[in-house]
Amino acid sequence: MPTPTVIAIDGPSASGKSSTAAAVAAQLDMIHVDTGALYRALTWLALERGLEDAAAIVDAADAGSLHLTPRDRRLIVVAGENEDDIEEGIRSERVTAGVSAVAAMPEIRSWVNRRLRVAVRASGGAVLDGRDIGTVVFPDAALKVFLTASAEARARRRLVQRGGAPEPEEVRLEAELLAARDRVDAARKEAPLRQGHDAILVDTTDMSFEAQVARIVELARDRGLPLG
Ligand code: CDP
Repeated sequence: MPTPTVIAIDGPSASGKSSTAAAVAAQLDMIHVDTGALYRALTWLALERGLEDAAAIVDAADAGSLHLTPRDRRLIVVAGENEDDIEEGIRSERVTAGVSAVAAMPEIRSWVNRRLRVAVRASGGAVLDGRDIGTVVFPDAALKVFLTASAEARARRRLVQRGGAPEPEEVRLEAELLAARDRVDAARKEAPLRQGHDAILVDTTDMSFEAQVARIVELARDRGLPLG
C-alpha cells in the first residue's frame, strides 16, 4: 500500500486549526480529521459512564461505543451501533473542562493514535489538526505546520465564533482559560504540545482566515501535494 499523504497542522487551543485544516483539505481535495474530537469523544464517554481510569475508558470505546467513520470528506467520531452524532456533546463546557486531563493519559493517547493511523492509511491520506500530529503520530508527514496566534487573538476569535461582540474583560478571562489549557498540554509528559523542529510556524495573530488557508495551501503545492 502506498504511503498516505499526511498534512499535519498542530498548535495551541483556538488557533483556528480545525477550520483551517478543513478549508485546506477542501482546496486540496483531501480528507480532514479533527483529532481533538477523538479526545473529546473519549472524555464525553468517560463522563456519560462515570469512568475514571484510562483502561476502562478505552475498553468502553473498543466495545463499540466509539467509531471513526468517513462522512462528507471528513473522518468523524460517532457513538454506538447506530453511529449516533455526538458533535454537540463533545463540544460542551463539561467536556472542554475535562479533556486535557483525559488527553494526558498514555493509554488514551495510544488508543487515539492507533485509530488515527489505521483510518488515515485506509483513506490514503488526510489533513489532520491536533497537538502532536507532526511530532508523534505521523512523524513522516509530508508537510508540518505549527499554527498559532497570541492568546488574546485566539480568545477573541473563539468568543466571536460563539456569537456577539465580546467585552475586553471577557476576552481577558477567555485568554486565561486558553493559556491554562495550553500549559497543561505543553507540560504533560506524553506528547506535549510543542513546535517540532521541522514544522513551519504560521502565526495568524495579524492574518485573515483566507490568508492563513492560502499560506498552507501554497506550502503544500510547493511540495507537490497531494501526491498521486
Ligand atoms: O478546539 P480546541 O483547540 O479547543 O481543542 P481540540 O483541538 O478540540 O482539542 C481538545 C483537547 O484534546 C486539547 O486541549 C488537548 O488536550 C487534546 N488533544 C491532544 O492532546 N492531542 C491532539 N492531537 C489533539 C487534541
